[in-house]
Amino acid sequence: MARAIVIDTDPGQDDALAILLALSSAADLDLLGVTTVAGNVGVEQTTVNALRICQLAGRSDVPVYKGCPQPILRPLHTAEFVCGPDGLAGMHLDAPRHAARDQHAVAFLIELLRTSLAPVTLCALGPLTNLALAFTQAPEIKAKIDRLVIMGGARDLGNMTAAAEFNFFVDPHAAAAVLRSGVPITLFPLNATYQAVATPARLKGFDEDGKVGRHVLSMLRRERPGGASLGGNDGHPMHDPCVIAYLLWPQLFEGRDCHVDMETAEGTTVGRSTIDWWGRSGQTPNAHVIGTVNADEMFARIAASMRILDERTAKEPKAIS
Ligand code: RIB
Ligand code: CA
Repeated sequence: MARAIVIDTDPGQDDALAILLALSSAADLDLLGVTTVAGNVGVEQTTVNALRICQLAGRSDVPVYKGCPQPILRPLHTAEFVCGPDGLAGMHLDAPRHAARDQHAVAFLIELLRTSLAPVTLCALGPLTNLALAFTQAPEIKAKIDRLVIMGGARDLGNMTAAAEFNFFVDPHAAAAVLRSGVPITLFPLNATYQAVATPARLKGFDEDGKVGRHVLSMLRRERPGGASLGGNDGHPMHDPCVIAYLLWPQLFEGRDCHVDMETAEGTTVGRSTIDWWGRSGQTPNAHVIGTVNADEMFARIAASMRILDERTAKEPKAIS
């Protein structure tokens, strides 16, 4: 039986590949909805992007819900300097031919988890604002979450500041609330996800004869702004796809249970995640933190998944535009 999941996201190029990977694996993952949040770009654009990505995959049936336009307390910081003005630089996707649902993302998360008969896995690919507000408004829904898999935090250097990773930097108060929520968490910090760089060798497995493959390759072959200052010149780091790949192929990842704390005080370390990798604090672990990624195998399997997606969409009757 397919695992019921929700993806909370701020598309973003790596978010796009994560969503496509989830949609290519319908036998394993039942994507109940996509909730959007401000992050890489503003929430109006992340919502349009989520619609565009589902449309590319031939899955305009997947409901998209617009979420929070700004963090709980801090001012919004976005990342157009990395992902371009529309957040999906180089992907060249059509405008969506369908709209997001009227219900707010937080209301959708609460209603879904209150009514779901089976536990749901949440995949958090952006700032955690929606999830923190849902847990605050309806704490009882936490019992319906079988696991929350998060891309966020840094065991070592950050990528938004020297101290902080982007998702946790944007909304550190939400990250702190989620990390203290008691929900079972698997965390993918930067030291793990920077192992998943889309190098030319790893892109060789993608098929540009397919529509999805063509758009993904166009995005991932785009010259990377910022170069070494943003994780090197070998290619785009695919942070978010690690989250979905973990659900599909957990054997490709290794980690350990750690206590993770969040810095919310203003200053040079705001948004810093302190990951007690060596268990020195004596504090009870609140997350399973990933440390190792078998990236070559992960990309090979993602490439195969994109081919499956292309084969499926090629067979489907074309939507009447
Ligand atoms: O720091 C990387 C994370 O921030 C990724 O999720 C990326 O998409 C941005 O949201
Ligand atoms: Ca993201």
